[in-house]
Amino acid sequence: MNVKIKKILKKKNKAKIICLTSYSKNISEILDKYTDIILVGDSLGSVLYSFNTTKKVNLNMIIEHSKSVRQGVKKSLMVVDMPFNTYRNRREALKNAKKIIKYSKADAVKLEGGKKIIDIVKYLRKNKINVMGHLGILPQSHKGKFRYKGKTSIERKNILADAILLQKNGVFSIVLECIETTLAKEITKKLKIPTIGIGSSVNCDGQVLVTDDLIGLNLTSIKFVKNFYDIRKHITIAVKKFKDEVKKQKYPTAKFSY
Ligand code: KIV
Repeated sequence: MNVKIKKILKKKNKAKIICLTSYSKNISEILDKYTDIILVGDSLGSVLYSFNTTKKVNLNMIIEHSKSVRQGVKKSLMVVDMPFNTYRNRREALKNAKKIIKYSKADAVKLEGGKKIIDIVKYLRKNKINVMGHLGILPQSHKGKFRYKGKTSIERKNILADAILLQKNGVFSIVLECIETTLAKEITKKLKIPTIGIGSSVNCDGQVLVTDDLIGLNLTSIKFVKNFYDIRKHITIAVKKFKDEVKKQKYPTAKFSY
């Protein structure tokens, strides 16, 4: 088993798992010291490209960003999202997962869904591909308004069954996106593998956020996003200083010229 995955599994019930997204080398270089998992999420579609859906992210985009991210990752486990329409059947999934791993040297791929994709998960595992699951809100197949999952008893039963099924078929961890607090707690308690929550309460084994959201670079009003910092303020200060010095011909001085 991948040593980094082993380390993450050992954290269950002992220490919280820290996961953050990255789409580039410079950001992953900063994150890597503090994270257990760095995820090249297909959220890059909305965060970087202003797409109204992650479905518009394609394989080449995710591979190019993953190659950049890889350069900044040393100690964290690197997971890459398989984009929409890249795992419609077992063969397609294996071919594309191998391609992602070949070019980015990622440790694992993440797929959205439970029972519906279980044959694909099984096949990837059979071919030694490390897989992370993703349940709750599934942006790649979601239709209509986003609302949290686990409101009705049938929905709760299905999500719990999906989580157990994914574990049985070899995923090493599952992202729980916007799952009601007590259901997230129940899933986390029932599973031997760690759950990584996003909008799913403190009861999960770890937490993930989109880095651009938490540093205030990407402006969003999603309920579960806490603004831990206002990086825009600091970028603004630097840009204003640059503009000022250029206008006053204070920059570039001889020191910065050839
Ligand atoms: O695409 C993404 O960034 C994700 C996380 C939000 C879990 O899937």
